[in-house]
Amino acid sequence: MIAIGSDHGGFELKEALKKHFDEIGVAYEDFGCHDTNSIDYALIAKKVCGAITEGKCDKGILVCGTGIGMSMAANKFKGIRAAVCGDCFSAKFTRLHNDANVLCLGARVVGAGLATEIADLYINTPFEGGRHARRVAQITEIENGTF
Ligand code: RB5
Repeated sequence: MIAIGSDHGGFELKEALKKHFDEIGVAYEDFGCHDTNSIDYALIAKKVCGAITEGKCDKGILVCGTGIGMSMAANKFKGIRAAVCGDCFSAKFTRLHNDANVLCLGARVVGAGLATEIADLYINTPFEGGRHARRVAQITEIENGTF
C-alpha cells in the first residue's frame, strides 16, 4: 500500500498519479490535500510518514512544488528515508542503494508523464541490500545518535 499526499502545489500531479495507479492496479491511500487551497506541506508529510512508520503503508509519495520542502520535512521523521527525484535513474537507485521509503516529486519541476515513470520505477525496484544495508543502517545510527 502506497501512502500518497501533496500540498496545493502538488495537488494536480497527485491526482494524475492516482489516476495512473487506478489504471495499473496499484493500491494507495490518499492523505490529502483534497483541493488547491493553500496548505502547509509539513502537515501532509506528517500524515504520510506516520502511515509508514506505523506500518499501515510500505512506501510513500509526497508531492509539492519542488519536492524539496516535502523531503526536508519527511526526513525529520524517524525511520523515513525520503528522496527527491526528477529523473528515472535517481528513482531506481534510491531504491536499490538507499532503500528510500518516501519518494518526493516536484510538480513544478517534472511533468505528469515523467513523474509517472519515476513513480513506477520507485514502486517496482527492490532494495539491493548487501553493502548498501550497512550504509542504510549507518543512516539509522545517525538518527539514533549512536553513529
Ligand atoms: C508552495 O508554494 C511551495 O513552496 C511548496 O509546494 C514546495 O515547493 C516547497 O518546497
